[in-house]
Amino acid sequence: MKSYTKVSDILNLSNLIHQAIDIKQNPFQNAELGKHKTLVMLFFNSSLRTRLSTEKAARSLGMEVMVLNVNEAWQLEFQDGTKMNTHTTEHIKEAAKVISQYADIIAVRAFPKLKDKLEDETEIVLKSFIKYATVPIINMESATAHPLQALTDAITITEHKTQKKPKVVLSWAPHPKALPQSVANSFVEMMQLMQVDLCVTHPKDYDLKPDIVKNTEVIYDQEKALKNADFVYVKNWSSYKFYGEIRNQDESWTMTKAKLGNAKFMHCLPVRRNLVASDEVLDHKNSLVVEQANNRTYAAQAVITQILNRLKKD
Ligand code: CP
Repeated sequence: MKSYTKVSDILNLSNLIHQAIDIKQNPFQNAELGKHKTLVMLFFNSSLRTRLSTEKAARSLGMEVMVLNVNEAWQLEFQDGTKMNTHTTEHIKEAAKVISQYADIIAVRAFPKLKDKLEDETEIVLKSFIKYATVPIINMESATAHPLQALTDAITITEHKTQKKPKVVLSWAPHPKALPQSVANSFVEMMQLMQVDLCVTHPKDYDLKPDIVKNTEVIYDQEKALKNADFVYVKNWSSYKFYGEIRNQDESWTMTKAKLGNAKFMHCLPVRRNLVASDEVLDHKNSLVVEQANNRTYAAQAVITQILNRLKKD
């Protein structure tokens, strides 16, 4: 693997999942692979899991890690040809090349603004690092995708499935803030690559991007969608059609134990209790959320291992 900026960068999903599960059994099996290599992690937005799990993964491979909260550094300019006479101080053309001198891998988190669909879909921050950096890039959640989370979810489902083709339901939930579609997008893309029976359920006006959903079944009736589910992944996202808007706050979409039945419950975290899912769901033995967060480390470690092995070859 050269870089990991989208689900489609995965060369062989089954191999990667099993590599991550193997790393989980013995996290220090490649403790020298990253010796004298540095991971620079750039955060344009907040994080708990991604920051700590990716750092832990890199350190288990012997890497040095440097973290920069970019909003505390110089304000970057991403547009080409701009006369920089307002608030931006440094152009990405210099910044990405400079950071590449300190890093062997750069990881970037940059959320969408959720104001202008076309602008967010250009993925200008992530794509600018891909364009101007001279080292591999890892996407730690961008405007439209969260591939590290999706890999984690694939690992978790693989570990917990009890049948060859489990039924997996992605169910929307209410939330007071407008959130990106990134987690849902990458989850759908990842599940489409797996041996699962996937369906997505959400209120009208919350359809995800058609290019991502493709032929995946969409059921607007949550109760119907949840029938016989083995895994229920609950997540809020703001409207894609009415871009970035909150069109619905109907708490009848909140996940309850009665609706969940015996299915395993999944969420990427952070989660708003008793709004996205009830206490009973989150505190139940069928909740996988803490284990998912643990698997973030092994997903990141498998990805970094593949990138470091590729760097060794080049
Ligand atoms: N799931 C996830 O990406 O968590 P953080 O936002 O805390 O990194």
